Amino acid sequence: MSLKDELIQDRLPAHVAIIMDGNGRWAKKRGNSRVFGHKHGVTAVREVTEAAAELGVGYLTLYAFSTENWSRPKTEVDALMSLLVSTISSETATLMKNNVKLNAIGCKESLPKGVQSKLETCIEKTSTNTGLTLTLALSYSSRWEIIEAVKKVVQDVKDNQLDVSKIDADVISGKMATAGIPDPELMIRTSGEHRISNFLLWQLAYSELYFCDILWPDFRRDDFYRALLDFQGRERRFGKTGDQIKK
Ligand code: IPE
Ligand code: IPE
Ligand code: MG
Repeated sequence: MSLKDELIQDRLPAHVAIIMDGNGRWAKKRGNSRVFGHKHGVTAVREVTEAAAELGVGYLTLYAFSTENWSRPKTEVDALMSLLVSTISSETATLMKNNVKLNAIGCKESLPKGVQSKLETCIEKTSTNTGLTLTLALSYSSRWEIIEAVKKVVQDVKDNQLDVSKIDADVISGKMATAGIPDPELMIRTSGEHRISNFLLWQLAYSELYFCDILWPDFRRDDFYRALLDFQGRERRFGKTGDQIKK
């Protein structure tokens, strides 16, 4: 039986988030520049997107470039931005074929104009697709997102649109860049690093975390299925006891 066949269809997570890590180390191991690793990471993105779309996962969120990544050498940042432009162009057909809707979260204004316009074009073109929603986190950091959300809440209070007593978790979720998207049930990080790196801090409150040593450019469908199988074997208690969950 293939790994895919072992999955229980009605227990798939509605939303999977991935910290795609390890491109630089993958390239270094091959005596190549870090950018070579980023280029090969695109294959993994395509595989996972197609696998998620085929399975009927509703939402896939990929951490592609963090606010902190702006501090990398300019040559790497420039290469990543060019790669984004070429990848969005070349992958639009794959997104259309798989009925995938593209979305982006992060400080879009900080991205080069070329990236912004390619992104907007692809988002527009795929906007009526009804399958998987693929969200790219670009120039994204969770603290940035939380700060923006706080500003929106304060403004609503100032404008008498919102009473302080009405501020609850739903109000805050609605002000996040991910408004309307369910919280990830599963968060995967590749490359053996065990940290969150400023990703979806609010939304990951009760996510199952899955870490694997595979470097992102080597991540394939079966690795994705393995993560999903691991998720399906977990007991999610949300503060309750195991006995309460089994009832
Ligand atoms: C992840 O791979 C991709 C980005 C952060 C853009 P890295 O570039 O972080 O690769 P490592 O972690 O240095 O190996
Ligand atoms: C996190 O990876 C950001 C992305 C995958 C885009 P990093 O490689 O930048 O994270 P740290 O700095 O090692 O934690
Ligand atoms: Mg890294």
